Amino acid sequence: MLNPMYSEHAAEYAAAIRDNSYNAHYERPSLCTLLPELPGKRVIDLGCGPGEYAAYLLSQGATVTAVDSSAEMIALVQQEPGKNINAYVQDLAQGVPDEADQSFDLAVSPLMIHYLEDPTVLFRDVKRILKPAGLFVFSTHHPFVDYQFSPSGNYFLTEKIVDEWGTLGRPVRVEYYRRPLSALMQSLTDAGLCVVELSEGKPDELMQQSDPESYRKLSTAPGFLFLKCRVG
Ligand SMILES: C[S@@+](CC[C@H](N)C(=O)[O-])C[C@H]1O[C@@H](n2cnc3c(N)ncnc32)[C@H](O)[C@@H]1O
Repeated sequence: MLNPMYSEHAAEYAAAIRDNSYNAHYERPSLCTLLPELPGKRVIDLGCGPGEYAAYLLSQGATVTAVDSSAEMIALVQQEPGKNINAYVQDLAQGVPDEADQSFDLAVSPLMIHYLEDPTVLFRDVKRILKPAGLFVFSTHHPFVDYQFSPSGNYFLTEKIVDEWGTLGRPVRVEYYRRPLSALMQSLTDAGLCVVELSEGKPDELMQQSDPESYRKLSTAPGFLFLKCRVG
């Protein structure tokens, strides 16, 4: 599934998420509270986008591998001066076949899983490449939120949603999948990953001044779901 926002508009997307409400003041702070100590850790960033997380992980002393299906996103990660990140193009629906067994301490996947119709292949590979007791931390659309856009009205189906988002300041077409919470949990369990922490996120205090409407919305209803899993 090629979404234009992540291919032809990659540089614009990178600029848009640097300091916006949903990514910079809600998603990133919420996911970061689930991360373990990072110095000296080997981390893989699955669906790295323009590299906001990769740069952060590196700044915290981790060794970073960054993977994305968009060649344009990988080019942005690689052109960061002085940033020593191993970045390459891979469709994560096929997992990470080039990575060795038990080679990472941590896998992160912020806001990517909902682009996969079936995340099972990726989850199995995450289990394979993590060291014993390794962690997998990811965020995805909250099933409660996506259900509002269900074409069928049947919560228990996994369905493709075609939508338009205003992230770039104008409507841009996006496609993603919605699935019931039980299907997500089953895929994790089938892969041998145990959920050890779940969060529904929290906007940071800066958003209260910069975007009070989104702050009110995200303080009273969830936007994304955040899961921390351990190799079982
Ligand atoms: C919403 S962006 C998130 C980027 C980054 N994780 C962040 O939070 O800043 C989703 C990213 O997932 C990537 N993506 C979507 N489908 C993918 C797939 N099948 N394999 C690998 N990457 C994919 C997109 O190219 C895009 O860079």
